[in-house]
Amino acid sequence: KRSRDQMIIDAGQKHFGAIVCKSCGMIYTAGSPEDEAQHIQHHERFLEALRYVGWKKERVVAEFWDGKIVLILPDDPKYAVKKAEDVREIVDNELGFKQVSLSCPAKTKIYLFVSNEKMIVGCLVAESIKQAFRVLAEPGATLSPEKDTLQHQRPWRCSTEPEPAVCGISRIWVFRPRRGKGIARRMVDVVSTFMYGCFLSTQEIAFSDPTPDGKLFATTYCQT
Ligand code: ACO
Ligand code: ZN
Repeated sequence: KRSRDQMIIDAGQKHFGAIVCKSCGMIYTAGSPEDEAQHIQHHERFLEALRYVGWKKERVVAEFWDGKIVLILPDDPKYAVKKAEDVREIVDNELGFKQVSLSCPAKTKIYLFVSNEKMIVGCLVAESIKQAFRVLAEPGATLSPEKDTLQHQRPWRCSTEPEPAVCGISRIWVFRPRRGKGIARRMVDVVSTFMYGCFLSTQEIAFSDPTPDGKLFATTYCQT
């Protein structure tokens, strides 16, 4: 299926022009051997990082019909922490966070949503924080996910007054083909009950530095 905003004229090849991979999200030029080779390499590394083998003492904090949520803490065995780090790297890469260090690695909790097919389809990085800055509504912002790059690069304005918060979500990510199935919502629900034994009021959860997707999700989530 060809999209109308393709920049290159189709010269008869089967696939031609800029393509966004529906799984790994890489943008590449189909028809260009270098690009396609690079994509395959990235794609395989991506799926490999999301492959979940599991371990005996995994900490399952929730189970669902379509998967489970596993929590990984900084003091867990090396292989568990390594897995969590690999996934976080993928997430950071997709979110465009380059070498953004965690405010306190020793207090970071990483939640992975593992599908029945043993694939990591969701990741949430939580940090306990004391205060947060509210993201202000953008005048004229629409509630439809606009996919143009400008929209994606726009910095959000934050309030200058800090507000109390106890749980900071520094990253939340869901595997593209699995979005819109309530995976992010279930992860946030579980994080709040598991960390504090009760549902946090949405006032007490802060989303740090949200992307447009993150902002739309947070807006919907916090209304309920
Ligand atoms: N546009 C509009 N509404 C949305 C969007 C969106 N992009 N994402 C979620 N919602 C709404 C859904 O409609 C849903 O509402 P409903 O329950 O009333 O139907 C609600 O939010 C919950 O949606 P989920 O299905 O739980 O969300 P999903 O599993 O698709 O994951 C996420 C949402 C994590 C934002 C996903 O789109 C993603 O991984 N995006 C790319 C990474 C990203 O931008 N992450 C946020 C970064 S900000 C940060 O980490 C602090
Ligand atoms: Zn791909």
